[in-house]
Amino acid sequence: MRLVPTKFIRAGIELAKPIYDARGRVLLQKNIRLTESMVNRLKSSGITYVFTREEDTDDIIVHPPIPDQQRIEAVQKIKETFRSFESEDLTKNNYLLEKAALKLEQLVKEIANELSKNDDVIHYLSDLLIIDDYVFSHSLNVSMYTLALAQELKLKDKDLEQLGLGAVLHDIGKIIIPDEILNKSGKLSDMEFKLVKAHTEYGFDLLRKAHNIPLLVAHCAYQHHERLDGSGYPRGIKADDIHPFARIIGVADVFDAVTSNRVYRDAMLPHEGLEILYTGAGTQFDMHLVETFKKTVALYPNGLTVYLSDGSEGVVAQQNYQMFERPIIRVLKENGLKVKPYDLDLSKVLDVMIVNTDQLITS
Ligand SMILES: [Fe+2]
Repeated sequence: MRLVPTKFIRAGIELAKPIYDARGRVLLQKNIRLTESMVNRLKSSGITYVFTREEDTDDIIVHPPIPDQQRIEAVQKIKETFRSFESEDLTKNNYLLEKAALKLEQLVKEIANELSKNDDVIHYLSDLLIIDDYVFSHSLNVSMYTLALAQELKLKDKDLEQLGLGAVLHDIGKIIIPDEILNKSGKLSDMEFKLVKAHTEYGFDLLRKAHNIPLLVAHCAYQHHERLDGSGYPRGIKADDIHPFARIIGVADVFDAVTSNRVYRDAMLPHEGLEILYTGAGTQFDMHLVETFKKTVALYPNGLTVYLSDGSEGVVAQQNYQMFERPIIRVLKENGLKVKPYDLDLSKVLDVMIVNTDQLITS
């Protein structure tokens, strides 16, 4: 199968995977041939990429890190939890929060279990299903990346549970911030920015009052925007003063934020998200964490169209686990002309580079 940016799809192409709505209902079945109206519907839905089926790439498989239905249910669960908080005065009654924590603990275990079953790297691009409210799918994605990183770091199960819960709840403080500010496409005013930053302190206050939630989980919410060099917020604390769990979540958080579609900019691809992390590695983020994180995600996910320095064009067919930046490419065209498809292992031809990929610019 092949990952095709929605903006490039045309009537007649065949879907290799179903498309769901936010509730998990199938909007378009797999194996369906798209009609003009389906194409238009997809283009206006906010979905960034679709998996298509074509003969030359039929054997290329992409396993989602978490099965689609489980992902949809998990996002729903997070949504319900966050929503239930909005209507309550949690400063007086934290029973709800304690009940929710149990549910989310279970969710963390399920995700950790799913990730450990799968020894492949994470092939994932945000917004492949229908776009959901950002905060909820972001909470799940950050948990997924956090747990994958923690497993690679060989953290103990007990730590994994607390860290995972910290990741699911890291942005819980955002429930106090009006949606108009969270989703604003223009520049935030100083006041608005101050309010957005306060989600860390509000999250901390909320979580530390719940008796069955470890204090460390509250600190994850409090500290996930702190940076090693003191450039973060809310307190500007540095290096070892930032809890290692918050530093791990910080890496996962930034990666998901830049690789997701937002109202103010298009999503980056995983290799570009990693570049952002490397720019801050050693100053804002621990170098060791960034390097370990790199081992958990596919920089160029299977199915992605790439353009090579020798003028050829192809699709990522397989990963090279020793050299993630040099996957195996199914070459389909040379200098713009179709050729008989063949596989090129970029780890064996070091003078050929990936110079471009299908980009997401929607405008
Ligand atoms: Fe945050």
